[in-house]
Amino acid sequence: MKKIYLYGNWKMNMLPEEGEAFCRSLADRITGSLYGSDLVDICLFPPFLTVPSVLKALPGSPVSAGAQDGYFEDRGAYTGAVSMDMVRSAGCTHVLAGHSERRHIFGETDEIVAKKLRKALDVGLKAVLCFGETLEERESGKTIQVVQNQLLSAFQSVPGEHAQDLILAYEPVWAIGTGKNASPDDAQEVCAFAAKLASGTFGGQSRIPVLYGGSVKDSNAGELLSRPDIHGALVGGASLKVDSFLAIYENYRKLSAG
Ligand code: PGA
Repeated sequence: MKKIYLYGNWKMNMLPEEGEAFCRSLADRITGSLYGSDLVDICLFPPFLTVPSVLKALPGSPVSAGAQDGYFEDRGAYTGAVSMDMVRSAGCTHVLAGHSERRHIFGETDEIVAKKLRKALDVGLKAVLCFGETLEERESGKTIQVVQNQLLSAFQSVPGEHAQDLILAYEPVWAIGTGKNASPDDAQEVCAFAAKLASGTFGGQSRIPVLYGGSVKDSNAGELLSRPDIHGALVGGASLKVDSFLAIYENYRKLSAG
């Protein structure tokens, strides 16, 4: 069985006490199981203020924590911003960059995303670069072109020696939070394209994982994760309950065990 990345993006959900309760229950469920093995990599992305209580509830567990965002400047007069160094020193090992909600609600451009990505990697974080097309772009046959532009713009800011800390997440905008997931074939096509573009840019040895995100849940996870170029899932809604989050991996495992 291949290694699966099971990443949960809590968005603006989960008070500190709720995050702590989630993690205590998650830690109980995964103790002594396959989850501690190299076959599953679990990371949670709580809101900033929930990170400490998540970390408090996870010592000794194989689950890591990441931030949903971080700014590209080191310090200074940037009201409301949190630097990548702050993210790292709070105990996060990962950070998202370029999530579609950051791009579309908060107006982040490819240029801003590239700067954030660079800073994240420079401070030693693993960066999950999110990319994906809108419905209009898909319907007008522009998916590959849009995805290629987003990826190449971001890749330019990644020094080759940091490529091993890069993770890609294909998240079609129209599939996020809508209950409509990309079909496994469509997701596979774009993820394979992204993987090829990454290995063309960083060298064939780079093996950068590509996750799929957009309405992933237990009922569609098995099929999606079984595709050869989909290495995991970035999960929003279904990551808010321990049962629905773990069911994503369990369904994949059932399907691949035949
Ligand atoms: P969703 O969100 O699973 O709720 O569609 C995914 C994401 O935005 O990462």
